[in-house]
Amino acid sequence: MDMSIRPRRLRKGSVLRKMVRETRMDKSSLIYPLFVKEGTGVKEEIPTMPGQYRYSIDQLSFALEEVVKAGVGSVMFFGIPDHKDACGSGAYAEDGIVQKAFREAKKQFPDLYCIGDVCMCEYTSHGHCGILKGDYVDNDRTLEYLAKIALSQVQAGADMVAPSDMMDGRVAAIRELLDEHGYLETPIMSYAVKYASAFYGPFRDAAGSAPAFGDRKSYQMDYHNRREAVKEALLDVEEGADIIMVKPAMSYLDVVSEVKENTVLPIAAYSVSGEYSMIKAAGSLGYVDEAAIICETAASAYRAGVDLYLTYFAKELAGFMDEGRIG
Ligand code: PBG
Repeated sequence: MDMSIRPRRLRKGSVLRKMVRETRMDKSSLIYPLFVKEGTGVKEEIPTMPGQYRYSIDQLSFALEEVVKAGVGSVMFFGIPDHKDACGSGAYAEDGIVQKAFREAKKQFPDLYCIGDVCMCEYTSHGHCGILKGDYVDNDRTLEYLAKIALSQVQAGADMVAPSDMMDGRVAAIRELLDEHGYLETPIMSYAVKYASAFYGPFRDAAGSAPAFGDRKSYQMDYHNRREAVKEALLDVEEGADIIMVKPAMSYLDVVSEVKENTVLPIAAYSVSGEYSMIKAAGSLGYVDEAAIICETAASAYRAGVDLYLTYFAKELAGFMDEGRIG
């Protein structure tokens, strides 16, 4: 057989396969999201997200210890407040639940990099991501609240803030207020490209943040759109974002590649609750090999161009990287 080019040559043996591997992954790129709530002695499993928990502040250090032990260097906190109101005041309260989490985390683990999700839906009585005017979220009024939330998180110890509300102009509003208070060096990771997605279902159970009426389609993006992702990303770049996030990850990897090609910022992707829960469910039924699916899903995100990866499987992935199973 006259065949000089044989792709199989480079697939012979795991040493060579790893040598020529195109996608490299590292634990330092993983971010683990976790939920904190009021109370003491609370570690309750989230029914729609088996293996994920809501922690009270006194239990948080046990959770963070696992994260640190696994070699994951960064976490993102979501707060579940006891009381909600129309303007989500719990989100920027000095003794708000997420502010307490930052103080505790930085006290116990000063080197753990702590990121704050900046949004209002967990804190508003109506469950929308901003201030309402009638049934519509009022963009410009919401901006001042988002900036206040970001500032209060940074004052409590957040190393980075990540606005997830999808209001127009919020990166600029947050940057301005942080700078005014001297936080010139605190980065903003913008959920710049966030689609209105059914993949957030389990998260809304976990955080009790489902909208009381309507949906989020007047602020989150239509999943039929890809060019609009570039528009959103470039706007946030102009406003001073430091990192651009695409969310969800699975089903949106074409968007990750598109945004990566059209910007020069690091790109994050958030593998959201629904992605986690589907894998857990299919794994527990024995329909798929859970560990193998976790690795393959993660690798596909990095292959698409992700630099940072937010995932509820962060600890597991760190372990698989240590074992050399992926990476
Ligand atoms: C807050 C927020 C949501 C998620 C992250 N930040 C929920 C939403 O937009 O409804 C979803 C995360 C997940 O599903 O894991 N706005």
